[in-house]
Amino acid sequence: MLAMEDIMVEPPADGEVVDPMAWFDSPGPFELEIGCGKGGFLLSRGRAHPEVRLLGIEWANKFYKYAADRMARWKLENVRVMRTDAKVFVMHHLPAACIDVLHIYHPDPWPKKRHHKRRLIQPPFVEAAVRSMKAGARMLVQTDHPGYFEQIQTVIAGHDGLREIAWEEAGYIPDEDWGGTNYEIKYAREGRDIFRIAAQRQ
Ligand SMILES: C[S@@+](CC[C@H](N)C(=O)[O-])C[C@H]1O[C@@H](n2cnc3c(N)ncnc32)[C@H](O)[C@@H]1O
Repeated sequence: MLAMEDIMVEPPADGEVVDPMAWFDSPGPFELEIGCGKGGFLLSRGRAHPEVRLLGIEWANKFYKYAADRMARWKLENVRVMRTDAKVFVMHHLPAACIDVLHIYHPDPWPKKRHHKRRLIQPPFVEAAVRSMKAGARMLVQTDHPGYFEQIQTVIAGHDGLREIAWEEAGYIPDEDWGGTNYEIKYAREGRDIFRIAAQRQ
């Protein structure tokens, strides 16, 4: 059984390019979740797919620790969490063609116009993300913010290396018990629309 310390992986040093498989006992398909929050998706996906190696990245210390503790309590061997800035991690520390599935659920929308530049999903980030995806890998993005969704659609459509595919084709639903990420559940209860887009690396 893994201790919390085994589940929490250190962020890379300046200039370091990681080998994601080095964090796991054996190799397998690699999936990355950006902004994993309390780890609801990681838990569900990790339990339903023991063959998958999952890394959740979370910036907020409180959520990061909560997620790691959750994975330890459920005795998941195939999930790791890292506390770092996911944008920097993807742009500077991931090797090319290592990701099988990239999950981004409810990224912070930064609704004020003057804060839009802080949004994660912009061309330089997507360029780096695509470089880190294997041929045929999928990217799934979900948000409750219509304005941000429009921007996400435009950025994805504007990248030659990505082809939009049906959400169902991207293989999102991990098991029958899955109720959604924490934010998805909260917003669905409030009756808000949820917008989804999936794309495949060419
Ligand atoms: C709106 S919450 C969504 C959490 C979860 N994905 C869900 O759907 O319930 C966004 C999360 O992304 C994290 N986050 C935002 N920017 C980040 C970044 N650059 N790197 C890592 N985590 C980030 C926040 O701390 C927060 O926990």
